Amino acid sequence: MSGFPKGFLWGGAIAANQTEGAYLEDGKGLTTVDLLPTRDKRFPVMLGKLSSYEPLESEFYPSHEAIDFYHRYKEDIALFAEMGFKTLRLSISWARIFPNGDDAEPNEAGLQFYDDVFDELKKHNIEPLVTLAHFDVPVNLVKEYGSWRNRKLVDLFEKYARTVFTRYKDKVKYWLTFNEINMLLHLPFVGAGLVFEEGENEQQIKYQAAHHQLVASALAVKAGHEIIPDAMIGCMLAAGMTYPYSSNPDDVMDAMDKDRESFFFIDVQSRGEYPGYAKRFFQENGIELEMEENDANILKENTVDYIGFSYYSSRVTSTDPKVQENQTSGNVFGSIKNPYLETSEWGWTIDPKGLRITANQLYDRYQKPLFVVENGLGAVDVPNENGEVIDDYRIQYLQAHLKEMKEAIQDGVDILGYTSWGPIDIVSASTGEMKKRYGYIYVDRDNDGNGTLKRTKKKSFDWYKQVIKTNGEEL
Ligand code: BG6
Repeated sequence: MSGFPKGFLWGGAIAANQTEGAYLEDGKGLTTVDLLPTRDKRFPVMLGKLSSYEPLESEFYPSHEAIDFYHRYKEDIALFAEMGFKTLRLSISWARIFPNGDDAEPNEAGLQFYDDVFDELKKHNIEPLVTLAHFDVPVNLVKEYGSWRNRKLVDLFEKYARTVFTRYKDKVKYWLTFNEINMLLHLPFVGAGLVFEEGENEQQIKYQAAHHQLVASALAVKAGHEIIPDAMIGCMLAAGMTYPYSSNPDDVMDAMDKDRESFFFIDVQSRGEYPGYAKRFFQENGIELEMEENDANILKENTVDYIGFSYYSSRVTSTDPKVQENQTSGNVFGSIKNPYLETSEWGWTIDPKGLRITANQLYDRYQKPLFVVENGLGAVDVPNENGEVIDDYRIQYLQAHLKEMKEAIQDGVDILGYTSWGPIDIVSASTGEMKKRYGYIYVDRDNDGNGTLKRTKKKSFDWYKQVIKTNGEEL
């Protein structure tokens, strides 16, 4: 018995800004990600310290060319099809559709591009799973309105959502609203295009922006259900349970609080109301949210159909300052190093069982179908003298996670599918590097933009193909 249900949606996940390139082609506007340089210079901007609304001559911006999916999508989709993908998660770049975000009419060339991509997927029987916002806001909206701190973004986002739902209603059934919506609290420029002035109350602004995204997400759910009757519209959480470092109740409480920082978003999107613990947090921290009269109804009446989440790592927390010193990095948040677990080359904790625990935790909490829409190992791949990448480490990582996902399914968790992150090497979101590779397909490009962009299959390509062919029976 496989353990994976019939029709399980196997595939991979990518995002417009990390793959497409062609950053100003066919009328596309500049987006926030197009202003993110690489490595050391990237981090301050991700936190909201932006020095220029235009790309600078002196910097290298990896999103501008990325892996040129914009021109090579047919070749890439053919390779995904060869692996047997049932689904491809990808995002639409808002600024391809509305270059300035507030244009009266959409950009036909941008709409046509995604039509072509969806048609190509259909040709190969690959179901698209589309994220409306994956870390990109049209720069004009940041400049003119202050991005998501401004209520106006809710209307503009709804218009964008309605436009793409109407255009693709016969081509796309699975949607996600905001990628890793909880990212907003940690990397506010990435999550919400927020730029801060010196001395501003950042926490107040972040939660106000969060409220706007939550209302916008609910309005997108409403629009999607109206326009596409069988649509499945989900939310997306950067997940990974927080473990208490010790059995000290203070650590346990702290772990619960840390998880709630993230659950806050999904509690609203899935249960339709602000949880009591959030209200208390706002009160104790002097956060006052401006809400419109109808917001509570909008949130209540338009909850998501499923919970999408990314899983790379679990986290560990402690209230002991000595223990806190032993940090390691991770997706979205750093964490205390878990003494029982190894980390990746980038310091991300590798915890396959954590996927089973996290899936159970989410399902117990929401009782809605889950979709694992990101998971994978970012690693340095070095082609051998024959140009082959023998990535056994990646196979091992994925194998271990898939085994635990199977366990979760056997625990009774309803999981719709699994899309591993970056099935083809793409630009890293956190560091802007190409060197941090997740793919089954190698792309010849380095951190500084050198390379032919040639695609080559890695060893994991055939492994994943077999996993899909046997519906997870052979891992
Ligand atoms: C998630 C994002 O945070 O993790 C992706 O949704 C990102 O966009 C992925 O690429 C992996 O992170 P990184 O920094 O290794 O690319």
